[in-house]
Amino acid sequence: MSERSFTELAQKVLDHCVLERQNIPSQPIVKVIPREKEKDIGNIARPPQLPASIDTTLSNAETIFGYRVRMDHPKFFGFIPSPASDLSWLGEVLNSAYNTHAGSWFQSSGPSAVEKHFLSWLTRDIIRYPETAGGCFVSGGSMANLSALMLARDQKLSLEERSKAVAYTSSQTHSSLAKGLGILGFHPAQIRKVACDDSMRIDTTLLRSAIEEDKAAGKVPFLIVGNAGTTNTGTVDPFTELAAIAREQSLWLHADGAYGASALLCQARRAVLNGVELCDSISWDAHKWLFQTYGCGMVLVRHRKFLTESFGTTAEYTQDAAETAESLPNFWNYGPELTRPARAMKLWFSFQLLGLDAIDKAINRGFELAEKAQSSLQCLKDWEIMSPAQMGIICFRFHPPHVPAASLDDLNMKISQTAIEKNLAAPLTTRIRGVLVLRICSIHPDLSDEEMVAVINGLDQLAHLLLSRVSKDGIAE
Ligand SMILES: Cc1ncc(COP(=O)(O)O)c(C=O)c1O
Repeated sequence: MSERSFTELAQKVLDHCVLERQNIPSQPIVKVIPREKEKDIGNIARPPQLPASIDTTLSNAETIFGYRVRMDHPKFFGFIPSPASDLSWLGEVLNSAYNTHAGSWFQSSGPSAVEKHFLSWLTRDIIRYPETAGGCFVSGGSMANLSALMLARDQKLSLEERSKAVAYTSSQTHSSLAKGLGILGFHPAQIRKVACDDSMRIDTTLLRSAIEEDKAAGKVPFLIVGNAGTTNTGTVDPFTELAAIAREQSLWLHADGAYGASALLCQARRAVLNGVELCDSISWDAHKWLFQTYGCGMVLVRHRKFLTESFGTTAEYTQDAAETAESLPNFWNYGPELTRPARAMKLWFSFQLLGLDAIDKAINRGFELAEKAQSSLQCLKDWEIMSPAQMGIICFRFHPPHVPAASLDDLNMKISQTAIEKNLAAPLTTRIRGVLVLRICSIHPDLSDEEMVAVINGLDQLAHLLLSRVSKDGIAE
């Protein structure tokens, strides 16, 4: 391709992307491909025999990507949204242009030095881990959790003990922990899901007795997982107490901070995570509340040498890139991947251009917006707060008198679905203590207070409209 035509092509692609990003707030939040249209995508999925034009290809890209949930829409409140900043996207563009293999120091000494120093800043200055700490960038929370679980297994269990080992999570722990334990060869019966107290925190009395019971039965407790922000309700487990139990029993303590650990970068809120620095390992996703594009996560550990003990490898064919000093790390020895992108670089790029004050403010906004949603709901009749605003998450439901309990779940599900259909907002649903609730995770910093109030008032109007259609047989279509 000639230099000129590549420049023109790149310009077109960039212009297309910039426009797309600028248009996010005015676009449908949720758009799933209708069954009859799926075939059309099949037709454009196949590679053509002869090259297509850039205009046709970009237009097809627009069609294809049109069918998605805009996880970065300010009114997408489901799961954990991805309020990716434009700067992260630009950092990704830069990163993929340089296309660094960030596995070894030899191949990537510049970006690896950034990764090392960035992780050192995060672990020592922000988490307040000791000098021995370190970490590794991975694709996201699931991989960070898996990596930490592997360290727990390798540091706490002999080969013979593995079949008798028991891990303790709460009933609210993210599914990626059970998946990770499964990948590592543990059987589901080796995971004890300890019940939570009234505020959805792990019940430490039950935890203590479960550990004693298992030990008496000849089992080998080895790991406690604490939640630094549960996905359901944003609840933080009592880390200081969990750390005391882990210390007494000589267990590994892992914090799943996939989304919640970001509160550590917000001066006004970081105290909610007190005690997290006592954990042996922490997962932290930058593609959640650090405003990065997918996939960007970190596993952070109190002792970085445990990472190399579990993940360090050598082979003849990598001898030219062998690690020559601990201070010049080969990150392929710190995590599961050999070939890996320089994920730290987009975080570095956006943090450089934003500055820590703006990041602190943007994280605080997530807290404030959930609190705003709560105070607006409290001004309305017939709404029940099922889990108060914490860590940018609030769960609630419409609960007018005289509606039969059996219809409440359907009614609230319908409120969520109708809000999405009307593009009012996308609060999805979850279950708390068996009850269906609406859930808002409000970590997109671009939403204003007024917009949040308008969303809550809009939900209220919808709810009353739907209520008028509730009969004893359910909600009329
Ligand atoms: C608390 C928690 N842990 C782990 C994960 C998994 O992270 P990822 O989807 O990046 O693999 C999530 C995802 O939402 C989460 O909320």
